Amino acid sequence: MVNDSKIMNEKIFRIKILEGADGIFEVEGLARGNYDEQATKYDKLVGNAIYNKIMWGNSPSDYSEFARKSLYDSNDGIVIDLGCGSLIFTSGVYANYNKRKLFLCDYSAEMLKIGKSRIDSRKVEHNSVSYLRADAFNMPFRDNTIQTILSFGIFHVFEKSDKLVLEIKRMLKPDGFLHLTSLCTERKLSAKYLKLLNKKGHVAKPLNSDEICRIIDQNGLQIVERKVKGGMVYIKARKG
Ligand SMILES: C[S@@+](CC[C@H](N)C(=O)[O-])C[C@H]1O[C@@H](n2cnc3c(N)ncnc32)[C@H](O)[C@@H]1O
Repeated sequence: MVNDSKIMNEKIFRIKILEGADGIFEVEGLARGNYDEQATKYDKLVGNAIYNKIMWGNSPSDYSEFARKSLYDSNDGIVIDLGCGSLIFTSGVYANYNKRKLFLCDYSAEMLKIGKSRIDSRKVEHNSVSYLRADAFNMPFRDNTIQTILSFGIFHVFEKSDKLVLEIKRMLKPDGFLHLTSLCTERKLSAKYLKLLNKKGHVAKPLNSDEICRIIDQNGLQIVERKVKGGMVYIKARKG
């Protein structure tokens, strides 16, 4: 099992980290998160099985299974979930996990609070989870420190997704892996809905899975596995 305080004291951080009274660590000086206001609403909508079936042609268990497979893909080093949100699909997978240190990272304090309460409600005594409020584009981890980066459903949010990939590459160890999901335009209804969400400013310009893989590849990670189901692409990529 992993000792939490020992890990927080290790020299893996390049930026000062503060510990909040609520058990959530935080990078010093962050502004408020965009998702704070809509955290509860967002959580209710995306957790809905019918919404996922109709709009994205996936079920919540597809997301949970990919998270489980990705987390257990290696037993080495440190794992981070970048943009972990409210852990709506992943709390069941993460709550009992203690094989490696796992940092659950998000910019939104409210999303992290919902996520933490989900894991706390399971009353598991020993897991290796820490919560970290941080910006995915300027993470506190030093270069080449992370073995596994999980990032589910955030790639499609950012126009500057190339910068996100560069930050992921910077943090990954030379033999590290990225496991990522992103909404994509292969399915007609999903593509229409993505276009609407883009007009409203909720997501970046919609991309197909080829375009998503190209951005990952052109910014220094090699695609190892890729699967499209409905309006979602599931990707495994490596640094070395
Ligand atoms: C669409 S949600 C996905 C959440 C979760 N991974 C899931 O699958 O349910 C996007 C998440 O990215 C977070 N986010 C947005 N901008 C961020 C940033 N710059 N750094 C870290 N997290 C960010 C939001 O707070 C939100 O929780």
